Amino acid sequence: MKILITRKLPGDYHKLVARDYEVILWDRDEVVSRDFLLENIKDVDGLLCLLTDRIDKEVIDKANKLKVISNYAVGFDNIDIEYATLKGIVVTNTPGVLTETSADLVWALILASRRHIVGADRFLREGKFKGWDPNLFLGYDIYSKTLGIIGLGRIGTAVAKRAKGFDMKVVYYNKSPKPEAEEYLLKEYNLKVEYRDLDSLLKESDIVSINTPLNRDTYHLITYEKLKLMKRTATIVNTARGPVIKEDDLVRALREGLIFSAGLDVFEFEPQVSKELIELDNVVLLPHIGSASFETRQKMAEIAVNNLLLALQNKEPLYSVNYHQLKSSIKK
Ligand code: GLV
Ligand code: GLV
Repeated sequence: MKILITRKLPGDYHKLVARDYEVILWDRDEVVSRDFLLENIKDVDGLLCLLTDRIDKEVIDKANKLKVISNYAVGFDNIDIEYATLKGIVVTNTPGVLTETSADLVWALILASRRHIVGADRFLREGKFKGWDPNLFLGYDIYSKTLGIIGLGRIGTAVAKRAKGFDMKVVYYNKSPKPEAEEYLLKEYNLKVEYRDLDSLLKESDIVSINTPLNRDTYHLITYEKLKLMKRTATIVNTARGPVIKEDDLVRALREGLIFSAGLDVFEFEPQVSKELIELDNVVLLPHIGSASFETRQKMAEIAVNNLLLALQNKEPLYSVNYHQLKSSIKK
């Protein structure tokens, strides 16, 4: 059997696959080229790919033998899941292991974008620090404020529990309420989180964190109209997927001072970041590093490889997006 891997993995996990399978590896330190992907997908049994690789109908149609797509990410909006499922291809992802690391980064962005961490560091390096100043880099408090979480899944819940130490009130919006998550946070962390509809959450929160997957329901969930509901002193942080926020609208809101600041780890047209955003100083911009810790990226590699190997052996992967759906359709 033959495997296509679109990037060298942390901990050299791609080499582990090569012990038992013939591996075609994109070994450059950049996103795999579309041509390479389309050419090499033809006769492989397994694909281990990244969230940067668009696995659409064109790719899937070229794949004559593909049994499994193992995505090295928790999100899977880069893959046409419906079409892969139709073709009987198992799709897997790497949730769980990156939850806490990603929640840490949400807080890094909240703190940075409320307290001018990035701008203040730049100011000092530019030699502008001339002495303590009562008006230098004033931000807004985090402590005791209201945190609004959009999407109370694994990462949203991990973000919520960290709010406990900041004595915050926590509200959340989700497509449907999540009583189990509410109960878990209450029981384990003595933290009461309350459900709100989206508009109420935006009006009430001082800090909004987006932690929802990208899908038809969440595409452009946050537009200018929605940002207008937020407080002028509020901050919005997006570490989920860029297109959940209409980027042009966020630029306009930041420019007009409709909200205080933003922190972004993801972008609507990633890796393109709009020039307007780069010119604004009330936004902190990061190159999609939510899960980027040594420990986590290694665990993700281990899981992605295990998912791949299990599916190739016709066993249930550790984490799959469509395995049960595929199994039940085969039975019918
Ligand atoms: C990161 O954004 C991931 O989906 O793993
Ligand atoms: C962001 O608000 C910054 O000043 O770094």
